Amino acid sequence: MEQKKTKSWLCSLLQYAGKHKRLTILGCTFSGVSSILSLAPYLCLYFIIQDLFESWPQFSNNTNKISEYGWIAVAFAVGSLILYFVGLLCTHFAAFRISKNMKKTAISHAVELPMGYFSHQASGRLRKIIDDNTDMTENFLAHQLPDTVGALVLPIAILVMLFSFDWRLGLLCLAPMVIGILFQSRMFGGKNAGFMTTYMDALEDMNAQAVEYIRGIPVVKVFQQSVFSFKNFHRAIMKYKEFASGYSVNCRVPMVGFTIATNGAFFLLIPAAILILGHTATPVQFLLDFLFYILFSPVCASMMTRVLYAAETSMQAGQAVQRMEQILQEKPLDEPDNPQTPKDSSIEFRNVTFTYSGSKQAALKNISFSVYPGQTVALVGASGGGKTTAASLVPRFFDVDSGAVMVGGIDVRQIHSEELMKQIAFVFQDTHLFKDSVRENIRVAKPDASEEEIRAALHAAQCDDILEKLPRGLDTVIGEKGVYLSGGEQQRISLARAILKDAPIIILDEATAFADSENEAAIQKAFEKLIQNKTVLMIAHRLSTVKTADQIIVLQDGEIKESGTHEKLLFEKGIYSKMWKDYQSSIAWKLGKEAQV
Ligand SMILES: Nc1ncnc2c1ncn2[C@@H]1O[C@H](COP(=O)(O)OP(=O)(O)OP(=O)(O)O)[C@@H](O)[C@H]1O
Ligand SMILES: [Mg+2]
Repeated sequence: MEQKKTKSWLCSLLQYAGKHKRLTILGCTFSGVSSILSLAPYLCLYFIIQDLFESWPQFSNNTNKISEYGWIAVAFAVGSLILYFVGLLCTHFAAFRISKNMKKTAISHAVELPMGYFSHQASGRLRKIIDDNTDMTENFLAHQLPDTVGALVLPIAILVMLFSFDWRLGLLCLAPMVIGILFQSRMFGGKNAGFMTTYMDALEDMNAQAVEYIRGIPVVKVFQQSVFSFKNFHRAIMKYKEFASGYSVNCRVPMVGFTIATNGAFFLLIPAAILILGHTATPVQFLLDFLFYILFSPVCASMMTRVLYAAETSMQAGQAVQRMEQILQEKPLDEPDNPQTPKDSSIEFRNVTFTYSGSKQAALKNISFSVYPGQTVALVGASGGGKTTAASLVPRFFDVDSGAVMVGGIDVRQIHSEELMKQIAFVFQDTHLFKDSVRENIRVAKPDASEEEIRAALHAAQCDDILEKLPRGLDTVIGEKGVYLSGGEQQRISLARAILKDAPIIILDEATAFADSENEAAIQKAFEKLIQNKTVLMIAHRLSTVKTADQIIVLQDGEIKESGTHEKLLFEKGIYSKMWKDYQSSIAWKLGKEAQV
């Protein structure tokens, strides 16, 4: 069973290898042959000792032959080193490419996954899984796989050598090796059998929590907290520590036994040799064999250590590949069998109910409304009401539990995701700019956009003043060398992105943080440019922006409480009317404050 598992992860690993598979196999073959060659100098040594015994005490007769063996030994040692080096070159070359392939496959697969997958993954965890496991696999393929092949070839060659001179001494050398293997199996079997899975789980959890912790450093500082108050991180560290120390304690006895057994051949060989020597017919030959075994037994010990590490690293690499496979087994977003094209730019919610996975309560309950082509519909309401959730269902970041979201009269599940994304420009509540040039940040909306188009979009989004102050204009990398943009400036850049995309439907999730009044006016102007002649679904926190909307929908606890135009809702004197009053008084308060200053 275990063997089958080993085989299957190795097979999946080699699937990423493509044409580099042969190079990996070649590198491993070189390493195996190099291992065998590394034993040849010991044989030469045997023959040198034999010649010395034979020519004793006239050593001068045999000097030529001895130096000949010496040179042969050197040639084999150098040859073995060169082969090992060439083998490593091959495996390194292949490993780098294979791990790049793995990373690419995992990342392209992740892009295809529904947003739901990312919402239940701790942020940073996915990147850590991909990075750590591909690194581990790269190391394994570059170093440990060729070493494992060498370590597996060696025992066979060593066995042949051990028994070809004196079987009794051979058996004596073999005995510690067998005992060593028994101890080794205790380290990886029994209580420790599931070690690698638990170890990797604990390590992965601790790494992901560390990323979360570092991301939250501003909060840590402001609230003067210590690592201990971050329960998840603290728990992950303690779990890892407990596990690692528990495992070390479990391994204490077998590891000591393994080390003693593999290095203990001397203790067996010397008394055994004294015993056998008295009963042998050819004492000179026996002494010669004995010397050889004494010289050779450290090779057996180092071979055993290599096998031990090879077993451990294979387990690690096996786990790494299995973890990557888990990502690849996640089902990508279902694409329709017979995709249809939206007929126009309308949006319709038909009795939509949606619950986040893992959540007990529905975020949206039986919601129905329409946005006709060219109309602007605004979603308003208290925090947590379900506005962002509703907006996220249109580009199919999530699929509904029941009901349907229609774009251009077609259920979004029947539109190919590429086609759907072409229809929609989404401006997120939290602006995300890449650590790249301003140009590239805008260009993500339209990769083939010309320089003029990019500049026009930035101009329309009121970004001219931002560009002017950036040291290298469009080429300035955001987030580098002290170039940071304020929240309001970032919003304008993200509006430029949406303007450049020029999609018929605009979904705008307005940022909650208010920009300063200058920025606010600029954002408002950019927004007006963006929505010209478009179908717009907007989430507005500043009610001034929704006043002119064709329809305002008040969402509360996932339900539509009110809907209609600004005037109609004011007339009804319900939630919206109260919100509007509060908004008006907050403005009056703000103006009053400004007047005082
Ligand atoms: N990824 C998620 N996983 C689970 N629950 C979520 C997730 N995102 C939001 N929710 C929950 O869904 C409900 C609606 O949240 P949503 O973000 O849609 O509110 P909102 O109206 O946009 O609020 P705000 O005005 O603060 O932006 C909330 O109860 C929230 O806790
Ligand atoms: Mg929101």
